[in-house]
Amino acid sequence: MRVVLLGTAAGGGFPQWNCVCALCAAARAGKLPARTQECVAVSGNSRDWWLLNASPDIRTQLVTTEALAPGPGPRETPVRGVLLTDAEADHVMGLTILRGGPGLRIHAAPPVLETLAPLRAMLDRYACWDWADSLAEGGLVLSGGLAVSAHPLGAKVPKYVAATAATAATAATAATAATAATAPPAADDRWVTAYRVEDLATGGVLVYAPCVAAWTPVLDGLLATADCALLDGTFHTPDEMGTAVRSPHGQSAMGHLPVSGPHGSLAALARHPGPRRIYTHLNNTNPLLDPDSPARAQVTGTGVEVLPDGAEFAV
Ligand code: MLT
Ligand code: MN
Ligand code: ZN
Repeated sequence: MRVVLLGTAAGGGFPQWNCVCALCAAARAGKLPARTQECVAVSGNSRDWWLLNASPDIRTQLVTTEALAPGPGPRETPVRGVLLTDAEADHVMGLTILRGGPGLRIHAAPPVLETLAPLRAMLDRYACWDWADSLAEGGLVLSGGLAVSAHPLGAKVPKYVAATAATAATAATAATAATAATAPPAADDRWVTAYRVEDLATGGVLVYAPCVAAWTPVLDGLLATADCALLDGTFHTPDEMGTAVRSPHGQSAMGHLPVSGPHGSLAALARHPGPRRIYTHLNNTNPLLDPDSPARAQVTGTGVEVLPDGAEFAV
């Protein structure tokens, strides 16, 4: 399977348009590599490509990636669809850029599909897309020879979703299950999913989890059978938002497990030395953005990678 890291930054990208923190200033001055918002493309046959999330930077990402160029027909594209891990703005707003592209297939978990209903209604006026449940029994087989399964990872609800709407979406999807609907719905861990993508020809397995609030046994299970894992590297330390210039996006460390510390993701990854492990979705506050930082040396010293936008590799 071919994998292209189209973008590797958290929401807002790097540098952020209205931020003058030391890291953003260095990126603006060309001293650190700039990064677009997190998004990946995968293919089992180099002809059918699937996007993992659709970042607001998707237009630039598509036009600068040769494998995703249109043709040979006048309106042909190798992009077959999008697998969404969550409903965060930086993962779904790129769908508006893809509007009008006929025949795309969009997979997402039920709370995400529910939340995106207004956006879906808008996009379906441009071209009727096929919106499907990523958690459907038996998983998915994608064109190009990829078998995909989605795995519930957490209940992080996007900021734009009102608490009542979040509860309603959870209740609506819970009501379709044959469970007693009298008790209030529990936190729905399907708001955020991980994907396991397997190349049916080679057996290569990619695990994609760019939004990890807490390390769970689900991740241990996925890492155990992976050849490569792309993981949430948003924050290096939990206090990052308090020590750097505050993000104009007001992000808090909550909702993203930090890399460092005894309970951080790097410690968890140390239990899985087998697969290639790569951090992505880096926030503009994260010292890992600087290749010369002690943080970066610590991470790469354990064999975990930080790659630039545009990196392509085989799994
Ligand atoms: C996140 O990853 O936590 C969100 O994308 C935050 C945001 O809305 O920018
Ligand atoms: Mn994000
Ligand atoms: Zn900044």
